[in-house]
Amino acid sequence: MRVSILRQKSAESEPYREIFEYDGSPDNTIAVLLDHINYNDDITDIYGKRTDRISWECSCLQGICGACAMVINGVPALACETFVRDLKGEEIDIRPLSKFPVIRDLIVDRTSIHENLKQTNIYIGEYQPSEKSSHAQQYITAKCLKCGLCLEVCPNYVNGRNFFGAVFANDCYLAASRNRSKSKEIRGVYSKHFGADCSRSLSCMDVCPMKIPTITSIAMMNRK
Ligand code: FES
Repeated sequence: MRVSILRQKSAESEPYREIFEYDGSPDNTIAVLLDHINYNDDITDIYGKRTDRISWECSCLQGICGACAMVINGVPALACETFVRDLKGEEIDIRPLSKFPVIRDLIVDRTSIHENLKQTNIYIGEYQPSEKSSHAQQYITAKCLKCGLCLEVCPNYVNGRNFFGAVFANDCYLAASRNRSKSKEIRGVYSKHFGADCSRSLSCMDVCPMKIPTITSIAMMNRK
């Protein structure tokens, strides 16, 4: 199987494509496929040209850290959760997330996700027990990996602009639910950085690896 990877040597350099041969099992994930290509001392592309190891990020390899987020055959996904056998066609296309600056190859700088939360004070602070009926929704919302896949598919999200995306809406809901004294402040930043510009495409829910029902967070926050 051919694997076409969009690469970049550094943040300043131009992207370029390299194609590799993958002869491993289709039951492997894309994370294992990348390791497989990187394994040899001499890495060559399909034309026999020697090249550098492919840089990509991972930590848990079981879908719980979000580090391996990338675009696989046009779909934003976690490399460690995407199996080769589930991909269509003779060639696999892998590229970095396009909404964040590339650091190298498939590694991108997602600092802005955390900076947006920091600058708007979206953290729980002093915990105040909330109604039991909302605990299930809070629990699933708190599973957010901050991987950035929801921002990759969002038609309204542009890195560095005023709209902070689904990851922000979910954290607003969570912080407002667990600390009622911050609720007014959170309502203000939610409206400014999410509520006013979300066009409800809800594509964020299609790609979320934790299946977070963002629409419920949006409904709860809009009601507030
Ligand atoms: S390596 Fe942690 S989610 Fe893929």
